[in-house]
Amino acid sequence: MKLSLIPVFLLITFSAFCQHTEQASIKVDARQKIAEINPFQYGQFIEHLGRAVNGGIYDEHSKLSDKDGFRKDVLEKVKELRTPLLRYPGGTFTKIYHWEDGIGPKALRKKRKNLIWGGLEDNHFGTAEFVTYCRKIGAEPFLVVNMATGTPEEAANWVEYCNGTGDTYYANLRRADGFDAPFNVKYWGIGNEEYAETDAGRHQDVNQYIKDTWQFVKLMKLQDNSLKLILVGNSEDMVWSTKVLEQLGPVCDLLSVHLYAIPPDTSFTSLIHSIDQLEKPLVQMESLLDKTPAKVEHFNAWYRFPSRKEPVKLAVDEWGIWDISSGKGKGAYQMEYQYNWSHALGVATFLNLFQRHSASIGMATWAQTVNVLAPIMTDAEGSYRQTVFTPLKAFRDYAGKYVLKADVAGPDVAPGIKALDITSSLSENGKQIILTIVNRDTLHMIKTAVEIDHLPAAFGIATLKQISFTGESLYAVNSFKQENAVKKTEVIKKINSNKMEVILSPASLTILILD
Ligand code: AHR
Repeated sequence: MKLSLIPVFLLITFSAFCQHTEQASIKVDARQKIAEINPFQYGQFIEHLGRAVNGGIYDEHSKLSDKDGFRKDVLEKVKELRTPLLRYPGGTFTKIYHWEDGIGPKALRKKRKNLIWGGLEDNHFGTAEFVTYCRKIGAEPFLVVNMATGTPEEAANWVEYCNGTGDTYYANLRRADGFDAPFNVKYWGIGNEEYAETDAGRHQDVNQYIKDTWQFVKLMKLQDNSLKLILVGNSEDMVWSTKVLEQLGPVCDLLSVHLYAIPPDTSFTSLIHSIDQLEKPLVQMESLLDKTPAKVEHFNAWYRFPSRKEPVKLAVDEWGIWDISSGKGKGAYQMEYQYNWSHALGVATFLNLFQRHSASIGMATWAQTVNVLAPIMTDAEGSYRQTVFTPLKAFRDYAGKYVLKADVAGPDVAPGIKALDITSSLSENGKQIILTIVNRDTLHMIKTAVEIDHLPAAFGIATLKQISFTGESLYAVNSFKQENAVKKTEVIKKINSNKMEVILSPASLTILILD
């Protein structure tokens, strides 16, 4: 096209845009491995809540389900997410859940009111269905026991049902249900948000929680002393968390914290601010872990099971964006949201936060997976991936094994809110350096100078792959009709220096891979 034919307004817009390109710089030290990233940081959570399980991943009456009742279209999408860990059956739901309701012939299973979230629970999806689902998607199962209206014996029986190998009642019950081999469930949560005053349960007092937890720990560990236990911490109450660590530290493998971003309004700045703010409780919890002896000395042999062997880590076993500000949530407790591209950038910010804190985070499970606060939505005719699916998958696909020291200098988008949120990691084989960069500046491109210090000699001539994800707009959403709110571009170039320059689009997630 001749220059004269380009509409004048386009030239003006373009030049205005160029003038506003911002500048930033990133420095990575390839020699400084800060921590190892636990793959369990990329876990997921499902709960008997609304259409998360029934009508979500499981639907015996759907034409889209397989012979076991699993929705095939959903299963394919969950597999794409490549989650290494799946938490179940709640959440708050655990407080009324009795696992024996969910085993054996389906026609005989007890139908009950879901007292927590409403509706009926026919218990057709129970322990065996959950473990089978985990196997299908390649995830490690993580079960949470009911300590609110359940007993230590009931929890220990569940351990025996899942993991028992001897000729004993509950192990034989599993065999009678058709499962000869033990399920080998290693990760067990004792309770969920037991401090929550409004929930059914009797442990709002931390001393009561500690006393009862000991009893659960003893009976469960006597059944299987290899269990890894996740105990209830509270990121909003350091007294609670301190006491739990002081008194249950020898048997606490991971301390649970729940981190939900609940922005006060629909603006992107509020969303980002509410996520950035969650670093503070995370740091506070880390300081408590620092005070907890890494090694347990003098554990009384009369407990008849071993104490924990590794330092305590955090289990962020519920995290996500609970954006009630839009007022548009549907379904049970309005928890069926349509997430837009701004939320996806929020999720990427969250994942960067966890990666930077890899030294202390042993696992993190996004709440939840299907329909409820979810990356996957269903109706009777099909399903689709929400915008937040993109960052959840991208981090699992591209993040490395070791966090590298990385610093960023650049503009702020609001007081105290940096435009660029970054992490850097090194692949397991040491041959790739990966940067995950969220440009939270919604208006400007950012020309970014990237410098990698102490680049190993093997990188002499390398390729730089830039994978960028952008939204059609900040508020673009996917739907049953179209799943094209997110655009992906890939550019590969050769580089022969440790310095490079990249252009980051406004409101984007960029994965840089130096290979
Ligand atoms: O994820 C939804 C609910 O949020 C969970 O049941 C509960 O643990 C949390 O408060």
